[in-house]
This record gives sequence, C-alpha cells and structure tokens, in this order.
Amino acid sequence: MDKLVIRGGTKLGGTVHASGSKNAALPLMAAALLPENGRSTLRRIPDLKDIRTFSMLLEQLGAAVDANGGVFSINAENIRSVRAPYELVKQMRASIYVLGPLLARFGHASVSLPGGCAFGPRPIDLHLMAMEKLGATIAIDKGYIEASVGPGGLKGGDIEFPISTVGATGNALMAAVLADGVTTIKNASLEPEIVALCDFLETMGAEIEGAGTPSLRITGVKRLHAAEFSNIFDRIEAATLLTAGAITGGEVCVTAVDPAHLTAVLRAFEQTGCEIVTDTESVTLRSPEVLRRTDIIANPYPLFPTDMQAQWIALMTQAEGTSEIIDKVYHERFKHIPELNRLGAHIEINDNEATIHGPRKLTGTTVMSTDLRASACLVLAGLVAEGETEVLRIYHLDRGYEQIEKKLSGLGADIKRRQYQEFA
Ligand code: EPZ
Repeated sequence: MDKLVIRGGTKLGGTVHASGSKNAALPLMAAALLPENGRSTLRRIPDLKDIRTFSMLLEQLGAAVDANGGVFSINAENIRSVRAPYELVKQMRASIYVLGPLLARFGHASVSLPGGCAFGPRPIDLHLMAMEKLGATIAIDKGYIEASVGPGGLKGGDIEFPISTVGATGNALMAAVLADGVTTIKNASLEPEIVALCDFLETMGAEIEGAGTPSLRITGVKRLHAAEFSNIFDRIEAATLLTAGAITGGEVCVTAVDPAHLTAVLRAFEQTGCEIVTDTESVTLRSPEVLRRTDIIANPYPLFPTDMQAQWIALMTQAEGTSEIIDKVYHERFKHIPELNRLGAHIEINDNEATIHGPRKLTGTTVMSTDLRASACLVLAGLVAEGETEVLRIYHLDRGYEQIEKKLSGLGADIKRRQYQEFA
C-alpha cells in the first residue's frame, strides 16, 4: 500500500497545471454509451483510479475503450450487457451514471446499488425518481436496481428535483436525450461538470436548452452520433493546489483552469487576505503575511463547493482567529477532523458545523486518509506541519488527484511516495 511522506515548512512557489476534471470525465464517458455506432473521442481525461474503474465497467458492458495518454476513444457499437456489477459499483458510486444511457438505448439496465462512503449514506432515490418520470419501472432485487421500460421506450416527462443533485441531473439528461418527446428538469444542477455533459450531448446531436440554469428542456431525438469533445479542467484540483500555496505562505500559479468555475473559492481566498490574479486559463495566489479567519458554507454550485470543505478547514488551522465551516451538502463529511487534531489543530464539530481555532502550530505525525478530499486535506496540513507527516491509505487520494506529489514537488514541497505494510 502507498503512503506520502511530507516534510513541512517550505513556502511553495511556481506554476503548476491542473488536469482534466474527474467529475466531468465520468459522465462524459457514460454518455459515450449512447451512440449506436462510431467511436467518440474524449480529450483531457485524467489518469486516475476512478477513470480506470469506469473504463473497466464500460468494457464489461461491451464497449471498446482505448486510452492513449489523456485521449480516450470509446466505441459502444457492441454493447452485450446492461449489468453494472457490484464488484465495480462498490468501488465507485459514480458507476450509477450508466443507468440513464443503458435505459435510454436498450430499454433496461441492471445496476448494483452503490455502497455508502466515509461521509455517510449517499442515496440514489432521485436518480430512480427521474427514470420513473420518463416511464421506467424500477425494482430493487438482491441489491440491484432493475430498471426497464416498455417497447415504446422512455417518454419525455417533467422532473423536479427537491434538492440540487449533480449525479441525478446527469442521469436524467442522458436518459431524456433519447426519450420520445420533451423532458423538463427543474432545480437542475448548475455545476460546470453538468454543463460540459450538456455540451458533449449536443455535439452528439442532442437538443438541450438551458444548460447552466436550473431549468433544462430536452427534446428527445431518435439517435445520437459519436462525437469528439475536450474535457474541462478540474476546478477542485486547481483549488486544492492554490490552497497548498496559501497554507505554506507561498505564491502559486495554477494554469489550465477556468477562473469562472471557482468564483466562490477565489472570493473566500481574498477574504483571508490572499491576493488573487486571474487570466483566461490561470489563477495566481499570493499569500498575505497573516491569514485572516474566513467562514464558509459549502453549498451547490455556484456557491462554495463541498469538495473544497476539507481543504479549507486545513487552511483555517493557520488563520488568525476562529472560523466556522458548515457543510450543507454532506452533513457527515468531517472524518478528516480527528486526524487534523492529531496534528495539533483545535477543531470542534457540532452536527454539520466545524469550529476551527487558529492559528495553531501543527506537528508532523502519522495520519490516516478516510476519503478523497480528506486525504487532500491531510496532505495540505503536512505541508505546513513541523517535521515529518505520513499520510496513509493514499489510494483515496489517487482516486481524484493525478500525480499530486509530482505537482507539489514541482512547487518546492518535500513530499515522497513510499510503500508500506498495514498490520492486520
Ligand atoms: C457529485 O457526487 C460529485 N461526484 C461529488 O464529488 C460531489 O461532492 C457532489 O457531486 C456534490 O457536489 C462526482 O461527480 C463523481 P449529488 P453526487 O447527487 O452526484 C443527496 C469528490 O470528492 N442525494 O450532487 O453523488 C446527496 O446525499 C466527490 O470528487 C440524494 O438525497 O452528489 C447529497 O446530500 C465526492 N438522493 C446531495 O444530494 C439522490 O438520489 C448532493 O449529492 C442523489 C443525491
């Protein structure tokens, strides 16, 4: 198993590029199941564990997936199965993204219910509600979602999500594009990853109005054709790299990012006293002498993203004063806090609200990753902790960050990947 060994104390500086977005790449790859023939080409697909898992799932269904560097070509002509097995779905809940395309194209799908994850239950009831609104019959049998629709296929319908949900919006879109008639989606997710999915679907011939707004209108078409598409950059990775600059008191420029996708995060950095300079595809962060405490509430886009909540908590351990962080998306996404406190932080938790007393001197020790963004948070803390920090179980980190130790070393960090054994 791998760990990262970090010697803290270096001010990071320099320029680093973000990779393609993981959370856009997954629905883009699922959408490549929709065309009956031809080969779709997706560029800027990051080399991550989750992407490899999703590729295996597509191949298990019968798609041909050829990856050459970050360019993926996917041919879904010979789909021979509509079953997404537990062995793959339990590794990655985003496997649920095959539900919409399989149902739309083949009239049925058998997808294992996803497991939970470190930050609590992650239901999929809204995915199922959306499929039913398009005429599907849903049954749960032996831990599998058995979705089917009559010979006429899916019919356009009116879907209204009670809460903003990225995944269910994506699944509803990929089902509606081939449904017979018009589908409306109210309270649709505004996330850039969903806008990218809409763009790709339109490139394939889908008819979608309102991308990037809470109201989508999809006019179903008979078939979609294969297409080419360049993935957007990973805004969460970019924000994590900027946080590495801020927590070490350095100056970091992240290229290959759309600043417009990070407005709420950049505003929060400015509230801490960081100077932010943006260009069309880059953001430069200059740290202040003293970081000011800054409260944030994690909410759906375009507000502050829950996927940056853990990283922000790490940063606030170094800020002057007490900060309040609330996560309104995932109420239990705080498994990183006990590990931060073991590094010397002073953080209290009350339901979905964390109170961070800063600044606190952190001292390196061995800490355990529990999920993707928690592991990023512990790496950030290690960059500023005195002495050596070992972050264990970084397979969590490898799910969503491409060569993170290489990128951080390029900015001057003393960080190395090492193998280790865990005692039973
Ligand atoms: C996506 O997950 C991201 N994953 C998550 O990123 C991200 O944290 C999340 O969106 C919120 O932005 C991918 O894109 C692969 P949701 P998703 O449906 O689609 C509730 C990371 O770190 N909900 O927007 O699963 C749900 O419990 C990962 O990269 C239902 O109640 O999230 C949550 O409270 C972690 N029923 C809220 O909605 C449903 O059917 C938002 O979830 C679906 C969701």
